[in-house]
Amino acid sequence: MTKSCLAIIAILITIIFGGIYKFVIQGDVSVSKDGRELIHLSADEKDLVLAEMRLFLISVQLITKGISEKDIELVVTQARRSGAAAQAEVPATLAKKLPIQFKKLGRDTHMKFDQIAMDAEDLGDSEHALSQLSVLLQNCTSCHETYRF
Ligand code: HEC
Repeated sequence: MTKSCLAIIAILITIIFGGIYKFVIQGDVSVSKDGRELIHLSADEKDLVLAEMRLFLISVQLITKGISEKDIELVVTQARRSGAAAQAEVPATLAKKLPIQFKKLGRDTHMKFDQIAMDAEDLGDSEHALSQLSVLLQNCTSCHETYRF
């Protein structure tokens, strides 16, 4: 193999790994004025993600209502409403803009809602649901501290 051949292979490998890093791990981000990572989304993409956020907040509100009124059925249905099955279909163009850490945290949040629903159904214990909710809320706060659109 000639030297130039090796050089071309090296360049291609760099491009491939650079692409993987950019589109799979890092996403389309820059540093925002307030120090958070600014994820660059189109207006439509932003609407899609923010609509999901508002659903999260509705679930949280109704779960706390269920807990305070010892209405376990409400806890179950509202937690399930934000579970993995309810996760909005993310278009590939949007997915590649989101940092891998953001996607992980998002997925984990849906799974934590599912866990609250399953446990509430099995155990009927609102105290347990409340402690799970306080852990889940750490996902909300830590993501909001790190990222913005
Ligand atoms: C994986 C990251 C992530 C997680 C997890 C997350 N959020 Fe968000 N959320 C964001 C980002 C980013 C924004 C936009 C903030 C900004 O641009 O300043 C946002 C915005 C919002 C908004 C504003 C919606 C609007 O219409 O403007 C609400 C409400 C919200 N989140 C609720 C929640 C709640 C409740 C949870 C937890 C159950 C949660 N979010 C979890 C990333 C996340």
